[in-house]
Amino acid sequence: MKRTPIKEIFNSSETFLNKSVLVKGWVKSLRKSKAFSFVVLNDGSCFKDLQIIVDDTAPNYEEISSSIAGTCMSIEGLIVESGGKQPIEMQGKIPSVIGKVSEDYPLQKKKTSLEFLRDIAHVRARTNTLSAVFRVRHHLAQATHKFFSDQGFYYIHTPLITASDAEGAGELFRVSTLSDENPPKNDAGKVDYSKDYFATETFLACTGQLEAESLALAMGSVYTFGPTFRSENSHTARHLSEFWMIEPEVAFADLDDVADLGARYIQYMIKYAFEHCSDELAFFEKMYKKDLTETLKLVSENDFKKITYSEAIDILLNSKKKFEFKVEWGVDLQTEHERFLSEEHFKGPVIVTDYPKEIKAFYMKLNPDGKTVRAMDILVPGVGEIIGGSQREDDYETLRQKIKACGLEESDYDWYLDLRRFGGAPHSGFGLGFERAIMYITGMSNIRDVIAFPRFPGNAKF
Ligand code: 4AD
Ligand code: MG
Repeated sequence: MKRTPIKEIFNSSETFLNKSVLVKGWVKSLRKSKAFSFVVLNDGSCFKDLQIIVDDTAPNYEEISSSIAGTCMSIEGLIVESGGKQPIEMQGKIPSVIGKVSEDYPLQKKKTSLEFLRDIAHVRARTNTLSAVFRVRHHLAQATHKFFSDQGFYYIHTPLITASDAEGAGELFRVSTLSDENPPKNDAGKVDYSKDYFATETFLACTGQLEAESLALAMGSVYTFGPTFRSENSHTARHLSEFWMIEPEVAFADLDDVADLGARYIQYMIKYAFEHCSDELAFFEKMYKKDLTETLKLVSENDFKKITYSEAIDILLNSKKKFEFKVEWGVDLQTEHERFLSEEHFKGPVIVTDYPKEIKAFYMKLNPDGKTVRAMDILVPGVGEIIGGSQREDDYETLRQKIKACGLEESDYDWYLDLRRFGGAPHSGFGLGFERAIMYITGMSNIRDVIAFPRFPGNAKF
């Protein structure tokens, strides 16, 4: 008999009633009484567990009834109506153990902390919380493709190995095959990367934006969805060294167009999650964030507030709140400022635009005031910045000056400058941190709990 995922059984319980099925999964708990054992089985296909009653006439009853949580089992049996919490349960007829579990299986205790689970990331997907997170993650990825594809965006793939620091922030991981003991040196005594694998210095990409711009200026509307790498030394609950980013890039669009696109994208993901992961969201609300459903519903139905950076600074200055980092025009907004704006002041998502040029990347379009750029960040409660984007500088000379002023090598960006000479056009885009979106929608408070195998400073285990 072919295995039936437990999800299918619950989704069409009527059709499965009084039918024989074969399920395979991992024991959540097992209670043994005199004449039968009560097995709670989960196969990860959905949030719900299947309750299975195996009576002592079943073959290998001894082995089954003495199994512990974590055991991998296969059980063939009859789906019947249940008087319990679930509408159905199984009368297990032919149970067998697929994989035994050793005494030191770390998930036998009922309550374990998220922190403890991070050290055993290879088995933590067996818990309610992590498997729920990963199912939501799957659905948000599907939502992303559907959202953009339905509006005519093309999904493109940008390189992960790059020679340019596209954010100009110097937080890149080097990619090299040179010998670490005795690398070739140039006349200045520095490592000679012209002898390296790519005949130039290369890194893992921290964004696919510059390449996405090139394709947007040929195909109109495009988006990337891939891993990005940053070697910033941030030990926070919102930073990873390897995270996934979605970067739409749109030709002929200005900043307001992509701010609106970003807001609609977040709203779409929320609605999609309610449609496809209602069990998971109910669980997160119960366990982690009491007002999750209500706040998300509000966000998905109401326009996002929009203010300029200068207005944000005024709000912070007038708030009388004591911030750790000083607030004055020109400083970059810190997490505490971002959270104040979205959590306390606006009590919802807020779009902040037109930041001082000094604190933003070189490629952002200079405003006529000469001081600010057409940048936008979208801030949400509990997370802070979830989206960063901008209208791109499309004036060749202004961009060239900006590259110079930022201390970057013009020759590294010649192809990027070409895009402004070869039929350039206004264009804009943004990047959404996928893990931050998952945090926001699940209410999980640490980014290390929304990616299966997190990478952060000091940790590359698994
Ligand atoms: O604001 P960022 O740095 O923007 C860019 O990289 C642009 N090239 C995007 C674009 O315009 N195409 O990053 C975009 C988003 C942030 O808003 C945040 O959500 C996420 O990426 N992000 C991180 N997420 C997890 N860990 C990190 N270390 C992150 N750094 C940025
Ligand atoms: Mg940013």
